[in-house]
Amino acid sequence: MAKDIWDIPDSNHTMDITAEERYWISEHSSGYDILSLTDCQSVLDDLLANIESHLSTVSQSKSLDEVKILIPGCGTRVKLEVAIAQNFPGVQIHCGDFTDVIQLATSEFARLKEQLTLQGQSTAPLERVSYHVLDSTNLPDSPKYDLIIVINSVLASQHNQNFQMLESFRRVISPEGRLIGFFPNIFAVADLLSLIRSPDEVFSQIDIQRSSYFEQKQQIEQVFYSPLRLRHLLVSLGFEIERLEVYFFDKPDVFERVRRHYAEFFHPDTDVVFYEHYLEAVPQRKSRGESERASN
Ligand SMILES: C[S@@+](CC[C@H](N)C(=O)[O-])C[C@H]1O[C@@H](n2cnc3c(N)ncnc32)[C@H](O)[C@@H]1O
Repeated sequence: MAKDIWDIPDSNHTMDITAEERYWISEHSSGYDILSLTDCQSVLDDLLANIESHLSTVSQSKSLDEVKILIPGCGTRVKLEVAIAQNFPGVQIHCGDFTDVIQLATSEFARLKEQLTLQGQSTAPLERVSYHVLDSTNLPDSPKYDLIIVINSVLASQHNQNFQMLESFRRVISPEGRLIGFFPNIFAVADLLSLIRSPDEVFSQIDIQRSSYFEQKQQIEQVFYSPLRLRHLLVSLGFEIERLEVYFFDKPDVFERVRRHYAEFFHPDTDVVFYEHYLEAVPQRKSRGESERASN
């Protein structure tokens, strides 16, 4: 049988889902400084503007309190869900992650609510935020979501887990829904490392053929897709891509934050900036038409 050109075989460092869960729980609970893009106001502002534009379309056919948003692999920072709830009161926001991560997120959310109350601010809009133990590779069939926001949460070391996550998102997105978010880009790491390391060193960490990045400090591997692979995955799963862009982290807050986090990556020249994919995708028109006919 012909080799599937898109396949990414496992390596010695590939983790199964149990190992992934263990890894993320340890990351979130050990105080290890996870880079969370939505800690940066400039990224949050860009996301909120794009969310607003999508919600203005959705709100032509339903009221805001019927709108459901999913944040899969939400992590523990809570800033994104809080900002969405405060800016678009009424929408329901479901945040999903592994069990222990959800426990940590719930405590952080309660702490933030308390802080807002002490500052005399209303926490009423936050009542529509809820946390759920949700394995992104196997989401329940319902509810269906108008918006799915992925912030660097599709980067498992096993390609098949990422495939299953995107397949799950496609299954639970409503016909008029949209998938948006940030996805790492393997070429960004190669680009940055090639300025400061020898080719041998670069390729000891990056396997372009497997779109994989090996993090030496932690000895873990993650799949960071190339634009072509990410595009193929989404299209093959029935998404139509509306935007798949290079998003440069060049605004001062995110520039500093990313540089501090990935200090070993950076040449000191200030034009050396990290980047990721910014994606917006919708269910393919053909399948949207089919589901509309089925629901009539
Ligand atoms: C890089 S962190 C990003 C967290 C968060 N989105 C942020 O920006 O701060 C990746 C997150 O995805 C979660 N994750 C990975 N695989 C998952 C899965 N199969 N189901 C649910 N969550 C998953 C991890 O637990 C982790 O919280």
